[in-house]
Amino acid sequence: MAGDSLTAPQQISTLESSDFLADVIAGFSSSPRTLPSKYFYDERGAGLFQKICELPEYYITRTEIDILDRNRTEIASHLGPNIGLIGLGTGAGTKTRILIESLKNPAVYIPVDISEKQLRESTALFQKIFPDMEVLPVCADYLQPVVLPTPNHKAARNIVYFPGSTIGNFEPDEAMEFLGRVANVCRKNGGLLIGVDLKKDQRVLEAAYNDRAGVTAQFNLNLLERVNRELGADFDLDQWRHRAIYNSSAGRVEMYLFSDIDQFVHFDEHKFHFRRGEKITTEYSYKYAPEEFATLAGKVGFEFVRMWTDDARLFGVFYFVTTT
Ligand code: AVI
Repeated sequence: MAGDSLTAPQQISTLESSDFLADVIAGFSSSPRTLPSKYFYDERGAGLFQKICELPEYYITRTEIDILDRNRTEIASHLGPNIGLIGLGTGAGTKTRILIESLKNPAVYIPVDISEKQLRESTALFQKIFPDMEVLPVCADYLQPVVLPTPNHKAARNIVYFPGSTIGNFEPDEAMEFLGRVANVCRKNGGLLIGVDLKKDQRVLEAAYNDRAGVTAQFNLNLLERVNRELGADFDLDQWRHRAIYNSSAGRVEMYLFSDIDQFVHFDEHKFHFRRGEKITTEYSYKYAPEEFATLAGKVGFEFVRMWTDDARLFGVFYFVTTT
């Protein structure tokens, strides 16, 4: 695994504030207006996302955990013994723990996560409960070039674990490009275990992204607060409204912030006019039919092995192998 890299062919911008400023200006200058969803996850946004994961309407997290829990033995037997597990965005490690507990003699675990705090805490926990497994944390944005460390333990094969349906936040062509890079890390005889949200009833989806407690609204509006905080803008948050809709022809939930009034927003010598009813697109969350996702991953060299799902087929945990 030494020197393996998730290097992007084209550089994706870093999370420096100069890039934030440039991305916000570019997003507000485009038509329709946008703000990149990667900026959701500052400290406050990450906390709000944790709360979203516990909402009654947001079925994604608990369904994925339940699928893993019920199928852990079978999943582990597919992954095999002595594996090197590379976790992308595995956060606090709740799902990964379920997985590792079931694995036979896992050799090494390399969690790659942007949150240093979560990485430090989960590394300490994993070293304690799995003392024979090497844990090599990497604090990085896995969308950026990441060189993986060289383990002392030799793994039989590399398995990449990408939970949470974060793949749904990529446009399908970006998802394919990203999965292509993941396939290079898996190499021959490797595997990919990935959580993917499935297509379903529009009402279920819209409820999940327009929760009654208004946590997703706070999460979305935090983007404007972040522009105020970090770029000194003067967004009046009372004049903006969160809304998510399911676009069934595109197969995605679309999150927006709507301007309630005709207004101007100022920052960094810029002045932007927003018309009443005008929207800023903040996130797409693609939902896949099982065969759609298998086809997408197949285009970059992943061979579909199987998908575990729940009774209502809300969510899928897919397992692919690389053969070339
Ligand atoms: C991180 N990602 C998979 C979440 C999703 O469901 O697309 C982000 C999110 N946005 C609103 N609620 C949750």
